[in-house]
Amino acid sequence: MTSLSVVDTELTHALPKIELHAHLTGSISRHCLHQVWQKKKSRDPDLALEDPLVTIPPGKVDFNVKTFFPLFSSYIYHLCDDLQSIIYTTESVLQSFREDNVVYLELRTTPRAIPSNSITEAQYVDVILHCITVSNNINECTHTSTMQTNLILSVDRRNTLEEAYKVIDLAIVRKGKGVVGVDLCGNPEKGDIAIFRPAFERAKEAGLGITLHFAETRASATEDELRELLSWRPDRLGHVIHVNDDLRREIVKRNIGVELCLSCNVHAKLTEGSFEDHHFGWWKESGVGVAICTDDVGIFESPISNEYQLAATHFHLSKVDLKKICESIVDITFANEREKFRLRSIYSNVDWG
Ligand code: IMP
Ligand code: ZN
Repeated sequence: MTSLSVVDTELTHALPKIELHAHLTGSISRHCLHQVWQKKKSRDPDLALEDPLVTIPPGKVDFNVKTFFPLFSSYIYHLCDDLQSIIYTTESVLQSFREDNVVYLELRTTPRAIPSNSITEAQYVDVILHCITVSNNINECTHTSTMQTNLILSVDRRNTLEEAYKVIDLAIVRKGKGVVGVDLCGNPEKGDIAIFRPAFERAKEAGLGITLHFAETRASATEDELRELLSWRPDRLGHVIHVNDDLRREIVKRNIGVELCLSCNVHAKLTEGSFEDHHFGWWKESGVGVAICTDDVGIFESPISNEYQLAATHFHLSKVDLKKICESIVDITFANEREKFRLRSIYSNVDWG
């Protein structure tokens, strides 16, 4: 039985955790990116890309909407542009979550074709699914790891409807083979999300879980946009920052789970004030499932155990509060009943004191 006493860093590290909102490429540590860069540089001394430790200096976490998204499109995607790098970085991300005692992970990624290396979106997704399968079976004795991972495929707000259909269809074909849901992500200041409605309808009809980045900035929080997103019948919403009382009540009435990312929101100044002003304080009392998530641990450098610690410190969580939160997260996962049963057993074996 896992024994938990006071809520301190030892406890939040030892606590079996569920991570539901983690972008694969944003979860790669600077150190891991540096290793990829070193390997490439040794093969090709003329490599034009700067060392990741220079581009993304360790300790720098004050990225905002303007500086954050280009990091991927103009830099990290150019570095991780071959199968070897994708496999190496995915394995590293999975290992980091496992070492932080994550027992269930829903990793999300935007299918990416890399024509320069003849990689299609389908190959990109399949190589990640292969890494996940190996990770899920890592324990040679039991053939199952304590951490089980499923994949969510993301539509980027800048996609066309045709590209969105492609993502949804990649997910539908792989449902039951490691893909459990679809997401809408990307720069909240770009794109007209209304065009994606038929694609997400198709995903819903196919029985995939639906999670949407929701009201991340004021630009993406107009009444029209939020009502449109809710009309897609999402199962979960990410961030949920600029949401008025009416819409909050609507989300609670529909029992939609929320994925909250404290460090990302505070460092990127998506929320006003500091940690104690975060809307986690409101949602934890709302009655819906509230998942504490990292979003992009590689960029914001706050592992999920630290996110639990921040929540516990700034919202004075007791062990009983933590137990309630952890159990509520099981219900909002996209896992099958067998996996939910495993997760409930894990929490029933924790000595909450
Ligand atoms: P990937 O999908 O595995 O390539 O992870 C990186 C991508 O996730 C970025 O290019 C963004 O489109 C998306 N992403 C990461 N963090 C956020 C966020 O906070 N809001 C919206 N999209 C995000
Ligand atoms: Zn996100």
